[in-house]
Amino acid sequence: MFPSKNWQTMMPWWLVLVLTVLSASVANAQPSEAQADAPARLAVQTPFEIVPREDRLTYYPCMACHQVMEVNYQERDLAQTPHLKEQPHGEGRFWCLTCHDPEDRNSLRTLKGERVGFSETHLVCEQCHSHRGQDWFHGAHGKRVDNWQGQRAIYTCTECHDPHNPVIPPGPPDPPPPTRIGFPPPQDHGIKHAPIWETVLSNSHR
Ligand code: HEC
Ligand code: HEC
Ligand code: HEC
Ligand code: HEC
Repeated sequence: MFPSKNWQTMMPWWLVLVLTVLSASVANAQPSEAQADAPARLAVQTPFEIVPREDRLTYYPCMACHQVMEVNYQERDLAQTPHLKEQPHGEGRFWCLTCHDPEDRNSLRTLKGERVGFSETHLVCEQCHSHRGQDWFHGAHGKRVDNWQGQRAIYTCTECHDPHNPVIPPGPPDPPPPTRIGFPPPQDHGIKHAPIWETVLSNSHR
């Protein structure tokens, strides 16, 4: 029982307590709702830009010639073609028009016949190379060339792979690293020396 005299002073205290409890539960509810949303938000596609390819092609725009040529769906010898005439990719299991749109030569096409721009070659490649396509999408394959934070810019598949001969040939090895300070510089008397680590290893066994 509170003395009636004290009610006016006690009321705010009660209100404060009730409001504090309420606001605390509201404040607690907000982050947990946000946490529940988090997986859904992460699943939204990562936006990125692709470095465009059209201006890198020698024969683009293709329709400059192809619009006056009748489409020929026949697999044939392309000896008369001014550009690429054959392609080893897939070892004869598909033809040019598997990837190139027959009607609109300025575009590529998917196996379902959807038109795809020359800067979206991944939509063509990942139909058959889905694992690499997935790795590329998430950044584990390929190369990011801009923006370490925020929207990333990446290379599409054909920046590195020739679509007609896609295996990347092995490159020359890097030159050896310079000799460490304190070691004598390597001397070449026309004799082939063993690499320095082999000398160190054989000395350590004496
Ligand atoms: C200078 C003219 C010219 C340009 C530009 C050109 N082509 Fe061709 N293309 C030809 C000719 C000619 C043929 C061969 C037709 C034949 O032998 O029946 C050909 C054949 C082809 C074929 C073989 C299959 C078919 O339908 O005949 C493909 C695929 C092709 N071109 C794609 C392209 C693409 C993609 C571009 C643009 C990046 C391009 N061409 C630009 C002249 C051109
Ligand atoms: C596996 C799919 C695929 C096949 C099959 C294919 N191409 Fe292509 N082709 C591409 C892609 C992707 C590009 C774009 C290359 C780039 O971005 O550098 C391209 C580019 C070209 C270009 C433009 C090259 C330039 O620098 O201007 C020509 C011409 C061409 N292809 C002709 C052909 C011909 C002819 C055939 C059949 C003998 C063929 N392609 C088969 C996917 C393919
Ligand atoms: C229609 C299906 C198809 C499409 C589209 C396609 N590929 Fe291929 N790719 C193949 C096949 C089939 C092989 C050959 C595998 C073999 O010979 O063992 C191959 C081989 C390769 C290889 C060599 C892999 C290896 O293990 O030797 C690379 C790299 C490659 N493709 C990249 C690409 C790129 C980049 C594109 C897009 C421009 C593309 N592919 C589009 C079917 C496809
Ligand atoms: C930044 C350059 C780059 C980009 C972009 C890129 N690749 Fe690759 N890719 C490589 C290199 C390098 C290798 C390894 C070659 C090797 O080990 O012989 C490779 C390997 C591969 C292989 C296996 C080849 C083999 O011999 O086993 C496939 C298939 C492939 N890439 C497909 C793709 C596809 C599809 C895309 C686009 C979605 C793509 N790559 C984008 C550079 C790239």
